[in-house]
Amino acid sequence: MEWSPAVVCLIGAGLFLVLPPAFSTTTTEPFPRWPRLIGCEFMYRGNVTCSWEPGDAAATSYTLQVTKTPRNVSPKTFTCTTPETSCTAVLGSSTVRMTFCITVTAHSGGRNISSRPRCQPGRKEVILPPAILTSVKPARGSSHCLNVSWRRELSAFPVSDSEIKDGELNSQIEFTVQGQLDVQVGNVTVTGYSVLVCLFRPDTSYILRLRHRYQGPASPWSPWSNALQGRTGEDAPSAAPAFWRQVKQTNRDGWRLISLLWKPLPHFLANGRVLFYNVTCQTDGGQVLSNHGSCRDLQHSTTSCSLLLPAGRCSCALTASTSAGTSPPARMLLPGASEKEPPSPGQIAARPLDDSSIEVSWTAPVKQPVSGFVVEWFAVTEGNSSVLHWEKLNGSHTALVITEGVKPMERYAVSVKALYGERDVGKNRTLQIYTRQGTPSAGPDVKVQWFTSGTVELGWSSVPVERLRGFLRNYTLCYATRNQAARSE
Ligand SMILES: *[C@@H]1O[C@H](CO)[C@@H](O)[C@H](O)[C@H]1NC(C)=O
Ligand SMILES: *[C@@H]1O[C@H](CO)[C@@H](O)[C@H](O)[C@H]1NC(C)=O
Ligand SMILES: *[C@@H]1O[C@H](CO)[C@@H](O)[C@H](O)[C@H]1NC(C)=O
Ligand SMILES: *[C@@H]1O[C@H](CO)[C@@H](O)[C@H](O)[C@H]1NC(C)=O
Ligand SMILES: *[C@@H]1O[C@H](CO)[C@@H](O)[C@H](O)[C@H]1NC(C)=O
Ligand SMILES: *[C@@H]1O[C@H](CO)[C@@H](O)[C@H](O)[C@H]1NC(C)=O
Ligand SMILES: *[C@@H]1O[C@H](CO)[C@@H](O)[C@H](O)[C@H]1NC(C)=O
Ligand SMILES: *[C@@H]1O[C@H](CO)[C@@H](O)[C@H](O)[C@H]1NC(C)=O
Ligand SMILES: *[C@@H]1O[C@H](CO)[C@@H](O)[C@H](O)[C@H]1NC(C)=O
Repeated sequence: MEWSPAVVCLIGAGLFLVLPPAFSTTTTEPFPRWPRLIGCEFMYRGNVTCSWEPGDAAATSYTLQVTKTPRNVSPKTFTCTTPETSCTAVLGSSTVRMTFCITVTAHSGGRNISSRPRCQPGRKEVILPPAILTSVKPARGSSHCLNVSWRRELSAFPVSDSEIKDGELNSQIEFTVQGQLDVQVGNVTVTGYSVLVCLFRPDTSYILRLRHRYQGPASPWSPWSNALQGRTGEDAPSAAPAFWRQVKQTNRDGWRLISLLWKPLPHFLANGRVLFYNVTCQTDGGQVLSNHGSCRDLQHSTTSCSLLLPAGRCSCALTASTSAGTSPPARMLLPGASEKEPPSPGQIAARPLDDSSIEVSWTAPVKQPVSGFVVEWFAVTEGNSSVLHWEKLNGSHTALVITEGVKPMERYAVSVKALYGERDVGKNRTLQIYTRQGTPSAGPDVKVQWFTSGTVELGWSSVPVERLRGFLRNYTLCYATRNQAARSE
């Protein structure tokens, strides 16, 4: 029902009202001007706050009139008066589902100037009470989704089940990866008390909050609900691990002992906990090799294995698996044992940046285009027990800072190989380097042999490289006789 100015005069109870014309678009505005209602916010419980543009500059105060017009009952008016341009009228226990007519009156000297009453259901501008989140569960079959359940406070929530079902709510989810600060907000469509929200990454814990507004932008957002935590399900890894190999040994008949090496998948690619890896190798003829060497039953903590490969061309495939599935395979193609190795990089240089990092740089081979480079490094030891570190780079790189496993006073062999196409790996170019040298922690063992001619021959063992702690420059020989001070040469 539209309210005519005459009715407002009646319920205005003794106010003398200067009413604006029915169509406020007239070009010549009367003087003084009436205030213009901007909008209201109905609190879900008990009050309404409206704001307006002042209109007449001479106004000293304003009265906000909010008239509740229930069906079959006489209207009831709530007011508040203020010198400002907004105020809050207390509505008691009125439900916002009813129609409310709003009028603002400016008091200026002896005159009262009122806006045209605006009548609409209070709900159009209601701030809903906060939703109550009850559970956040992984969605079966979809690692990108969470099933968010909520409920409403029945007595205060002015939108019914059937209205919710009809899509009367506008809703948003706020989500934060647990332990991180970055807060994101996404729009969601809520038509019931559980909603599938698909804005997430697999196997990730999120903190969620929900909020609604009634119908659309005219009604302000409700406060955020309580926060609940939920974790998405695992997915199959979206990529295979970085894969590399090392030819450990080539037998006379061409069989090769190969180490296969890979890197653990970062979580954003693993999409879950990797349970195992799977390696299969085959000849170029398609014959799957049955001798897996140590490359079978590869647990999640494994990052290398070795096996014997025949002399001809072959290939190996590596996959990683989580509880939800298997990654696409990473493939490694190996040339035949007798194929000639393509050239090494042109130059290689290295310099320590600090105790635990080395910058390695190289120049690309001139004769052939490369598809990438592999930098390998390991601590030089007497035995062959030290770990091979490696990094695979695309062809645009000509430098790398290495830090993995790097310590001062330890000697590193650093080598760079160029990759050609998918299969061919060039010869290495290698150098040795320390980040910082120290004095040897042990001297050589000296053996003395006497000759009857009164001369002696001295022999000594080399110092193990682990104890040298630097590049050996020279040996200094110290000797003393019973009557003479020590001398050195
Ligand atoms: C204007 O409104 C005030 C407050 O409602 C009232 O007291 C006063 O009588 C009104 N003035 C006139 C001229 O109607
Ligand atoms: C309006 O109601 C809300 C919610 O009940 C309350 O927080 C707020 O203080 C009230 N405002 C006034 C001016 O009474
Ligand atoms: C979400 O959870 C609710 C309540 O536990 C359940 O009734 C509903 O079927 C679930 N929806 C989906 C898509 O899993
Ligand atoms: C959510 O919807 C509003 C319009 O209702 C739009 O302006 C906003 O960009 C949307 N936000 C996202 C994250 O999609
Ligand atoms: C490993 O991969 C091979 C070849 O794709 C397959 O036959 C085998 O079942 C896989 N093993 C496991 C444990 O998934
Ligand atoms: C290298 O390792 C192999 C087997 O792991 C062992 O048989 C060999 O003796 C080692 N060589 C040295 C010099 O330690
Ligand atoms: C090479 O790697 C760098 C950094 O990792 C990347 O920015 C670049 O796009 C890559 N180039 C090609 C051709 O893949
Ligand atoms: C470089 O190649 C030589 C000869 O093939 C080999 O002995 C050496 O171990 C390789 N160095 C590295 C770091 O791979
Ligand atoms: C041997 O090396 C040390 C350390 O660099 C140096 O001080 C000394 O002069 C060298 N001795 C000879 C004989 O070159």
